[in-house]
Amino acid sequence: MLAVISLLLTACAAHEASPSYTPGLGEFMSQLSYRHSKLWFAGQAQNWALAAYELDEIEEGLQDIGHYHPEHHEVKAIPEQIKRYMAASIEQTHTAINEKTTSEFIKAYDAITAGCNACHQANGFGFNQLVKPVMNSFANQRF
Ligand code: HEC
Repeated sequence: MLAVISLLLTACAAHEASPSYTPGLGEFMSQLSYRHSKLWFAGQAQNWALAAYELDEIEEGLQDIGHYHPEHHEVKAIPEQIKRYMAASIEQTHTAINEKTTSEFIKAYDAITAGCNACHQANGFGFNQLVKPVMNSFANQRF
């Protein structure tokens, strides 16, 4: 029994030590994009718990981006840019969700979208334009 446990521990340690896969900036952004979409439908459904969750996921995604991709080719100081373009609107969205106010949520959501687009614009990726989603493409999730 002890031998089995120590074997398992060794295997875990070996696993941790092996280099792990880091998604590219485009992959992280794609994940942000579908969370941005889910956030909208959660807010429209006044499912505030889900909206809060998706907003947290967006924040974590942005943190990971800053951590794993502090620079990307010509795009410099990514953590600082995230703060500049996203911090205020994320805060605004937290408030709207906490207060469970749809009209404030819509304003805050528009500010988030504008923040995403402003950063794209500032870095030569203005062709990646986010909008309010027109259709819910998550057919297998209840909002
Ligand atoms: C730091 C500035 C910055 C912020 C803030 C930012 N982006 Fe991006 N985004 C980029 C850059 C740079 C690229 C191009 C990535 C690449 O070259 O792979 C990109 C690409 C994308 C793409 C295209 C991904 C693909 O491969 O098709 C999407 C979608 C996207 N971002 C969504 C978002 C969303 C949603 C937000 C806001 C919640 C956001 N981005 C905020 C800089 C930013």
